[in-house]
Amino acid sequence: MTFDFSGQVVLVTGASRGIGEQMAHDFAECGAQLIVTSTSSDDREELVERFGVPTSFYPVDFTDRASTNAFLDQLRSIERIDVCVNNAGTTRHGSLDAASSDDWDVTTNVNLRAPFFVTQAVANSMKRHGYGRIINISSIWGHIAMPTRSVYAATKFGVRGIALAAAAELAPFNILVNTVSPGFTLTDMVRQNYSKAELKEIAARIPLARLAEPSDISKAVLFLASKLNTYITGQSLLVDGGYSIV
Ligand SMILES: NC(=O)c1ccc[n+]([C@@H]2O[C@H](COP(=O)([O-])OP(=O)(O)OC[C@H]3O[C@@H](n4cnc5c(N)ncnc54)[C@H](OP(=O)(O)O)[C@@H]3O)[C@@H](O)[C@H]2O)c1
Repeated sequence: MTFDFSGQVVLVTGASRGIGEQMAHDFAECGAQLIVTSTSSDDREELVERFGVPTSFYPVDFTDRASTNAFLDQLRSIERIDVCVNNAGTTRHGSLDAASSDDWDVTTNVNLRAPFFVTQAVANSMKRHGYGRIINISSIWGHIAMPTRSVYAATKFGVRGIALAAAAELAPFNILVNTVSPGFTLTDMVRQNYSKAELKEIAARIPLARLAEPSDISKAVLFLASKLNTYITGQSLLVDGGYSIV
């Protein structure tokens, strides 16, 4: 059994870096055509070429309502999208006391509002074709919590809620909706928020004794997004090396 996305169109939001970039590479390697986004239109030329398969690029900044609406309009006009991965995300760490309304607005717009309306936009074409796989990228902080993660956790618990309700509503159309919840993964998001010493300490607390590579997350997403997934919907798969079980 192999992952085969040939003939399928796969949307990955936030595919310029990190986990999203890895997933786009892996979907491409398995035969998919891609729709990818980043926040900057300067990325267009490079991203269209990067994955070596037919790729459509849309610049979108989910903190900007006009940019988001323009992107959603474009999505609604696309004839066929087989797989949608709501991956683009952002984080601002800070105590409950220190969180500003700007922190709340930025984080919820990118991590929660965007996945909701993207799901709504792609579900229509998936319904027409009687097939779809939607994956929301949540986090360990969508299952457990710690100090300084209140705003981020609100969004990451929230995308699980969106996936559950959408899974129930879209099941009659053969659209399966799931969530993948990464643990600490070596991307810019982690490198910008933790020192090397802190990352060493974190690794020591993980049963598998290392942080995740983006490919660890991508493999789980590809399975849930593939035709091999015929009966899993409304689930959240933690990919965290065991961090949340000890
Ligand atoms: N890394 C981890 O440890 C970890 C753990 C759990 C969950 N996650 C989740 O996994 C997903 C990917 O994270 P990552 O670690 O790969 O992060 P990353 O390396 O920081 O990449 C984030 C991606 O999201 C895009 N993005 C950021 N802000 C955006 C905005 N305002 N509008 C539209 N797109 C935006 C970025 O586009 P630009 O390149 O244009 O900025 C980039 O493509 C996120 O949902 C994150 O919450 C990550």
